Amino acid sequence: MVMGLKCSFCERKAIINMREHRLMLCEKHLIDFMRKRVEKTIIKYKLMTKNDNILVAVSGGKDSLGVWDILNALGYHTEGLYINLGIDKYSRISKEKVERFAASRGLTVHEVDIPKAIGTSTPMAAKAWKRSICSVCGMIKRYWMNRYAKENGFTVVVTGHNLDDEIATLFGNNTTWQIDYLQRQSIVLPETHKKLVKKVKPLAFITEKESAAYAIARGIDYVYEECPYAKGATSVEFKYILNLLENRFPGFKLRYYNGFLKNKKIFGDSHVKLNECQVCGFPTTLDTCNYCRLKKHISQTAKSLTI
Ligand code: AMP
Ligand code: FES
Ligand code: ZN
Ligand code: ZN
Repeated sequence: MVMGLKCSFCERKAIINMREHRLMLCEKHLIDFMRKRVEKTIIKYKLMTKNDNILVAVSGGKDSLGVWDILNALGYHTEGLYINLGIDKYSRISKEKVERFAASRGLTVHEVDIPKAIGTSTPMAAKAWKRSICSVCGMIKRYWMNRYAKENGFTVVVTGHNLDDEIATLFGNNTTWQIDYLQRQSIVLPETHKKLVKKVKPLAFITEKESAAYAIARGIDYVYEECPYAKGATSVEFKYILNLLENRFPGFKLRYYNGFLKNKKIFGDSHVKLNECQVCGFPTTLDTCNYCRLKKHISQTAKSLTI
């Protein structure tokens, strides 16, 4: 609540002060603002149409449940996908929130159970493979979002990445000057291979604060806790720094991101050559994709443990 201040469009109390847009909005006008902004992004960047069969990847957090709510309200044909990573209490609570949200709106949600698919939880798998949990988790999520969509006739995958996520990634790519990552960072990841489904980010121009306010205004019951393995992640530190800059220079986040999108071509096009994994057939830059390598490693480790 913004103490004692009125909405820029009506007499109601403002619940959010959007300094970057010079707007104070009440619940109703925030909901209108967000839906219009998302629709504008969808049209401008050709993210999807009303003929698409859309799979929304939902984690149980405010962004992915919020974007699902918005797309549903805008009349798009959507179903949800929850990837159960087997992260103890966190995954159990997230799953409950996703299922409750879907049931309350009469929407369909699908689930991929990672411990069942690979034989162990994501943290245990990462430990066995000697990689960081977040990178293994990210790889598994990307793999299943695409595979599930392709195998079940979906034409677009939606994620809940917001402006803060996008500029934290951009900041990371800028500081390491990872040109190939800068080439590939985009609101639309096109289907550059017959087994890749288009992936889009309709909340790319919505800040984390706006997304949280929308979820509260819509009464969305979401997971407040971060994943227990996210603590101390560099992206969290980057978000803190970028928020300091936004407070000092309102509109900084949008200028930084829009500037990148406008000038992105200077980094050139991405020329990653994709093969089909010799085990599962899904796209990879290797002979066998990382998901299949991980699965094989887990089954070998399990065998050696039982001998
Ligand atoms: P994160 O990688 O956790 O920042 O999440 C970015 C986006 O990926 C979310 O907004 C969701 O759209 C999607 N996502 C994250 N975790 C899951 C999950 N467990 N199941 C399905 N989608 C997910
Ligand atoms: Fe993937 Fe936390 S959600 S490591
Ligand atoms: Zn208002
Ligand atoms: Zn594979």
